[in-house]
Amino acid sequence: MTSHRILIAPSILAADFGHLANDLQRVIAAGADWLHLDIMDGQFVDNISFGPAIVKLARGLTTLPLDVHLMIERADHYVPRFLEPGANSITVHVEPEAKHDVAATLRLIRAGGCRAGLTLNPATPFAAVEPHLPNVDLLLVMTVHPGFGGQSFRPEMMEKVRRGRELRDSLGAHYDLEVDGGINVQTARLSIENGANILVAGTSIFKAADYADAIRDLRGG
Ligand code: DX5
Ligand code: ZN
Repeated sequence: MTSHRILIAPSILAADFGHLANDLQRVIAAGADWLHLDIMDGQFVDNISFGPAIVKLARGLTTLPLDVHLMIERADHYVPRFLEPGANSITVHVEPEAKHDVAATLRLIRAGGCRAGLTLNPATPFAAVEPHLPNVDLLLVMTVHPGFGGQSFRPEMMEKVRRGRELRDSLGAHYDLEVDGGINVQTARLSIENGANILVAGTSIFKAADYADAIRDLRGG
């Protein structure tokens, strides 16, 4: 069995955009392992966030891995725009509503020298990602319906995390297992117990009084 280190990826969607650079510097100094950047187009999800310019801003502040989560239609068209400013992983959605050839987009991401991630919404059955697992570097299990921060974690998604871990072992694959949505100290522990090793957290870090304490607590002390 492969051992994967527990990594904390603050979702900058919950940062104060009036002082974004300052908030990013603080969370980096507080011990973030990756930065998670949520890209929303108002089509695939019912919200609009930010684009490549913010990835570029983050790249200018840190050498930490930048984990880009594309909640957009036509990811194949936009992937180069996120490779260019320096994304280290790009995760795309498997649902047909994302309107792209998933296998081709994953190849495009890897060809750009980036880690290829695949994700699925809570309502999407795990079987949808299975054919792609040999070709991913990261499997993201959404623990809320994507679009907004601050929602409640769905514990029933842990079955997908367990399945992702089992299949990784049986395939001899090495992908990371990431969870995103409603991650706090309790749900982080549950996710780790079920096999997740990358924890995305927005609200529980950026709304905390002390980012370093919040990150340490999520990691399990
Ligand atoms: C949800 C996003 C998440 C979100 C997590 O659409 O993909 O990354 O920012 O936020 P919290 O941690 O507040 O649930
Ligand atoms: Zn996300």
